[in-house]
Amino acid sequence: MTRVTCIAPVNIAVIKYWGKRNETLILPLNDSISTTLCTHDLCAKTSVMASPEFTEDRIWLNGREESIKNPRLKNCLLQIRRVARDQTPNVIPESWHVHICSENNFPTAAGLASSAAGYACLVATLAQLYGVSGDVSAIARQGSGSACRSMLGGFVRWHKGVEESGSDSIATQIAPASHWPELRILVLVVSDHKKKTSSTIGMQNSVATSELLNYRAHQVVPGRVKKMEKAIMEKDFTQFAEITMRDSNQFHAVALDTYPPAVYMNDTSHSIVNLIHKFNAAHGQIKVAYTFDAGPNACLYMLESEVPEVVGLIDWAFPAKDMKINVLRGLQTERNVPK
Ligand code: PMV
Repeated sequence: MTRVTCIAPVNIAVIKYWGKRNETLILPLNDSISTTLCTHDLCAKTSVMASPEFTEDRIWLNGREESIKNPRLKNCLLQIRRVARDQTPNVIPESWHVHICSENNFPTAAGLASSAAGYACLVATLAQLYGVSGDVSAIARQGSGSACRSMLGGFVRWHKGVEESGSDSIATQIAPASHWPELRILVLVVSDHKKKTSSTIGMQNSVATSELLNYRAHQVVPGRVKKMEKAIMEKDFTQFAEITMRDSNQFHAVALDTYPPAVYMNDTSHSIVNLIHKFNAAHGQIKVAYTFDAGPNACLYMLESEVPEVVGLIDWAFPAKDMKINVLRGLQTERNVPK
């Protein structure tokens, strides 16, 4: 029997991916940019065992056995095995089956990028087990689109690519975390309930019905991606923060422009948005940026020097007796998916 265990952190997009041009291969309509977090509070951990005694492939997620027939899961396994057949045919014999155990130490499907960490971890663990080397982000992408960005640390860009095969729809690192070590993220867990509309369904509905989506994907995001890369390379927090907030707002505008609308933010999310704008206005400059994925939880970006004041502000604005907001502190990571 051979066994490998890996952990992988979530990534938080500052330019959002929303909408696919190919559902099967998970090819996005637009490029996206994220930072990969380094915090033991937001991780997926996966162990994969291979043995000649296993009679079938099986998977357990957070302690419960799930169907291995999930097409995305099957596809990731199939592709790693296909690459292994060419690269490392002798590492794990083709007749061996695998048992996969994966757990997240944070709410699954609550808009905290759980599938990104989960699939990145699965693909990294399988690649390690089968001895596969090279870029496997295109395989992780076919598990969950945003998972390809969790394969790398620091600041990461997922290129939408132009090839129909998806071979150039991969993640690359813009800069390692050490490039901008002062950058910090606070994750405000407003709710850990499962979201009503999954990102897969939300995106499908947006592609089918939103008029704003095409404008965003083709007219707005390409320019924003260039500006964001420049802001990251120049460590220009003001630009970084403004683009991050505008992009989150536009993504949620697209979600609302979808018919029927996909409503991911709640009243507390909107209170956080107002609070951050007031805080920035009071300082006469942008000190904090918010961003929301497909759920109500906020991710706040700031420089390290601002963390104590912002944590105090959140405690003051949302006292535990009214509403407990769980604040998770994230650092960026240089390295990802320890092997
Ligand atoms: O990779 P998915 O299918 O979980 O979609 C992620 C979509 C967003 O989190 C809303 C945006 C992003 O780029 O991560």
